[in-house]
Amino acid sequence: MAPSIEIENLVKVFDGRVAALDSLSLQVEEGEKVALIGPSGAGKTTLFRLLNCILTPTRGTLRLQGCDVTRLSEKSLRELRARIGTIYQQHNLVPQLRVAHNVLAGKLGRLSTARALWNFWDPRPDGDVVRALTQVGIAGKYWERTAALSGGQQQRVAVARALVQNPDILLADEPVSSVDPALAQEIVSLLADLAQEGGKTLVVSLHSVELALAHFPRIVGLRGGKLYFDLPPDQITAELLSGLFTRCEAERGVPERVLRGAVSPVFPLDSPYDKA
Ligand SMILES: Nc1ncnc2c1ncn2[C@@H]1O[C@H](COP(=O)(O)OP(=O)(O)O)[C@@H](O)[C@H]1O
Ligand SMILES: [Mg+2]
Repeated sequence: MAPSIEIENLVKVFDGRVAALDSLSLQVEEGEKVALIGPSGAGKTTLFRLLNCILTPTRGTLRLQGCDVTRLSEKSLRELRARIGTIYQQHNLVPQLRVAHNVLAGKLGRLSTARALWNFWDPRPDGDVVRALTQVGIAGKYWERTAALSGGQQQRVAVARALVQNPDILLADEPVSSVDPALAQEIVSLLADLAQEGGKTLVVSLHSVELALAHFPRIVGLRGGKLYFDLPPDQITAELLSGLFTRCEAERGVPERVLRGAVSPVFPLDSPYDKA
């Protein structure tokens, strides 16, 4: 079976200048759970936006579920997007809507416009939404106004919205950076459990290294748009973490001409993988 995510020498350059990702190679098998960590500006969000097909690569290869995203027609790309569920940092819920309708929004990519509209007006509970809300433990909140829910329950609604489309790949970019530590722990373990039960590939970026190490069997460190390490948690040392997070302005936004090899960076990018 093809890997769930295959990235080879992936480069993403913004405005012909800022290299947010620089020759990144990474492979994630189906059902694997990966935590992505790294300093601000490392390229984590850019990687997520490539993985959910919002952005297209500047160079390199990105295959999702065996499909090369740069070679797909608009229609196939839409179908592929429907197989990828994303949970955002600011969970992007509409507070005025009922919980059911926020979750239903996750299904829209898979439905015709007429069917989608009908689902919004249909007073009967939608089976998929009930199932997703049950999975995240808030089935009783189906008809509640989303704004009336606690922060933690709203986070669960956001997870249910991603689950309702029954995705093969679940992506979450800093899903718990704006919640308290106890709730963060709860949501991260919920995501890990759901991915495990459903055999889904899960990639989560986390601000908290502690959470990443506690809940994920594979930790990917990203720095300056490059792979800094890719290791199980028990092999991650304090030195590696300090190297990953040490601030180095020269690594933020390496100019494109540097990437092409025309000019050497002033400070070498010190990823251990560069030396291999
Ligand atoms: N849309 C954009 N236009 C220009 N530069 C961008 C854009 N998105 C990200 N960048 C730059 O790419 C680099 C990586 O950013 P990002 O992927 O947001 O990192 P992280 O999520 O790890 O903090 C940063 O230097 C950032 O300024
Ligand atoms: Mg980010």
